Amino acid sequence: MSRWLRLTAGLTLLLALAIRVHASEDADAIRSFIMGMPKAELHIHLEGTLEAEDYLEIMARNDLPSRYPDAAAVRDRLQYARDLDTFIEVYEELLSAMQTAWDFEDVAMRYVARVADQGVVHVEMFFDPQMHTYRGIPLATVMAGLQRAHERAREEFGVSLWFIACFNRDRSRDSALRHLEALRPYRDLVIGVGLDNPEEIDFPEKFAPVFARAAELGFRRTTHLDVDVPNTNAHHWAVLDLLDVERIDHGLNVADDPELIQEVRARGIALTACPTLLFREIPGRLESRLARIRTLLQAGIQISLHSDDPGLMRDLYIGDLYLLAHEEGGFSRKEIEALARNSFLSSWIDDDRRNAWMGAFDDWLAAHPVAF
Ligand code: ADE
Ligand code: ZN
Repeated sequence: MSRWLRLTAGLTLLLALAIRVHASEDADAIRSFIMGMPKAELHIHLEGTLEAEDYLEIMARNDLPSRYPDAAAVRDRLQYARDLDTFIEVYEELLSAMQTAWDFEDVAMRYVARVADQGVVHVEMFFDPQMHTYRGIPLATVMAGLQRAHERAREEFGVSLWFIACFNRDRSRDSALRHLEALRPYRDLVIGVGLDNPEEIDFPEKFAPVFARAAELGFRRTTHLDVDVPNTNAHHWAVLDLLDVERIDHGLNVADDPELIQEVRARGIALTACPTLLFREIPGRLESRLARIRTLLQAGIQISLHSDDPGLMRDLYIGDLYLLAHEEGGFSRKEIEALARNSFLSSWIDDDRRNAWMGAFDDWLAAHPVAF
């Protein structure tokens, strides 16, 4: 090879290396931007934050015998979940590790510690009171733990942590009503109520009196409307007609019906979307969820991204999901910002605090001019 050719080949190689380094620097800058950007987590289940290792540790300290010898065996069990029903089966099995007030405090605090470096400043966390009282854990035990976590989250991480009590759609209306009344003394900590668990055929009608009473007592209101489940369109309309909700958890099927889009937007109902569900990968699922999230965002719906049950779903926490939206869905900086801004707009904090968060959010964006 002539000297000239060798020189050209050398320069080309250097240029390719420089481009690679530059691209990976860009990717690092985008990653830190997305992770560090302030955000509010509004769709996260306390019980679903339990990771395999947490489960084993809590079982052991409560002297409960585990069917699983190690974390890998717990993760194998998580692979069993293939839809909402099977997912809830595993969820109910694993949450039974929690027995004492300390367990509830500890699980909530493990979550806060995990997301404190993902930009999370405010959390409205679901918990399932019925799943604990029905196995003999008094509500007062659960609430004592959550109260401590609320205080420690602020003291140790500067995170504002509040709770939403979810009633199970596959349990009776009377049970929901009884639990609602029992929650009255905790109104300062439990800012709202929701509905979760499998979507039974008559769930909106069944819970109309519960939600009317919750409104009377000053609780904010949301409900799960899971994605691509049977009768979803009818359930969306019945929820709008009967439950007077301020938010919908998931609600991605709104994107499939232009009239629903119009109605949800007109009523100012916010959606808390979760791009992932289940421990296992299901081909096409992430793409279809991201596509609907984009459609709803473009339609002017107040939608934001959340993690649902990260401990039971491949450890994808909220920052990881914003990153996934960019890396897998091609979401631009403008879209990522809009989703995070919506998380503050949709939260149930008072207006003074919301304005303070929004101001801090805008300042943070101005100080981080990363383009993508
Ligand atoms: N409980 C925990 N996660 C849930 C979900 N995504 N839908 C319904 N119930 C749940
Ligand atoms: Zn959920």
